Amino acid sequence: METTTEVIDTQKIRADFPVLDQTINGKQLVYFDNAATTQKPRAVIDALVHYYQTDNANIHRGIHTLAERATRDFEATREAVRAFLGAASTEEIIFTSGTTQGINLVASTFGRKFIGEGDEIIISGLEHHSNIVPWQMLCEEKGSILKVIPVTDEGELDMEVYASLLSPNVKLVAVNHVSNALGTINPIKQIIDQAHAVGAKVLIDGAQSSSHITIDVQALDVDFYAFSGHKIYGPTGVGALYGKKDLLNAMPPYMGGGEMIKEVTFEKTTYNELPYKFEAGTPNIADVIALKAAIDYINTIGKENIAAHEDALLAYATERLLKIEGLRIIGTAKEKVSVVSFVIDGIHPQDIGVLLDNQGIAVRTGHHCTQPLMKRFNIVGTTRASFAVYNTIEEVDRLITGLERVIKMLK
Ligand SMILES: Cc1ncc(COP(=O)(O)O)c(C=O)c1O
Repeated sequence: METTTEVIDTQKIRADFPVLDQTINGKQLVYFDNAATTQKPRAVIDALVHYYQTDNANIHRGIHTLAERATRDFEATREAVRAFLGAASTEEIIFTSGTTQGINLVASTFGRKFIGEGDEIIISGLEHHSNIVPWQMLCEEKGSILKVIPVTDEGELDMEVYASLLSPNVKLVAVNHVSNALGTINPIKQIIDQAHAVGAKVLIDGAQSSSHITIDVQALDVDFYAFSGHKIYGPTGVGALYGKKDLLNAMPPYMGGGEMIKEVTFEKTTYNELPYKFEAGTPNIADVIALKAAIDYINTIGKENIAAHEDALLAYATERLLKIEGLRIIGTAKEKVSVVSFVIDGIHPQDIGVLLDNQGIAVRTGHHCTQPLMKRFNIVGTTRASFAVYNTIEEVDRLITGLERVIKMLK
């Protein structure tokens, strides 16, 4: 069986990921839990080691050589993220610990200042808990109202209902670009344009899109875009939030502390310029620096090549899974990326996960931090296989054989 699709030489790419070269329970590891976190290429691991071995210093304030090197590399990542998102300026790129912090930052600053009693926030039925709970917390504090775009049987957003929810009362629309549970790609340009037509701002949760889809925040005209480094082959504990400059300037700071100030007196503190106003305290320097290695890695292969490769894996996996008796795919949207979620009649997803792991195959099972979505489909959870640049057709065959064994054992 071919291990390489037309666009990617996976054997060459796999050699860049040391973790893949191991056996689990006596079998070669198949890693299909990429929507939870991706594995790291050697370039990212090397960047972390290099920083700690040669450049470790606190940034921005030091004038010694190590501090200058660390600051230069930290800020080089900001420029790489700017280009990665198509932003106009590095002032619009704020480092965070990941998507969750990016969303919470917007809820705590933009939300607290610009969303009040009776105002409405629209999210969708496809959201991860991290794009639900911060808005619920804000609504509870402010007396604002949360509205939800329903999900169709195919796992797409009901755009007619969305249009009907929009009114001048809506201050913010917060939806994901790609659903982590189903892989649906949402029509975010349409969502943004329609929200802007009623004067609402838009936050896009890019946790699942940023490694697959080319992002151009200016062409999208999006107000906020958040993503996580660990889902784009970078380290954990780092991510970025894009925000339009005029909005970021109008927002109060998120946390108070060092770096985010211009001048402090006991009477009054003035705040630093963008983006530092939102980066209080010593940041996650090593992981920010290594994030650039991840972005460079993606750029070298080319996102369009990565997407084409993953699309081929998804199409092949979908076709083969559908031939398994009693298996139902949850999420059959026209536009999908990299994720296939399924249930098998009479078998709990947890049991599937454990028995696949026994065969060296790592998948995710459960609710995928999308409990309302699972409820929408009347299921406790799914088994989810999610693909990345280093996965192969041969591994999809292993999944299918593995599932056939699971069914034989349990039925
Ligand atoms: C769609 C989506 N949003 C947000 C998050 C949260 O990302 P993080 O845990 O990196 O902050 C995830 C993580 O799985 C996700 O898939």
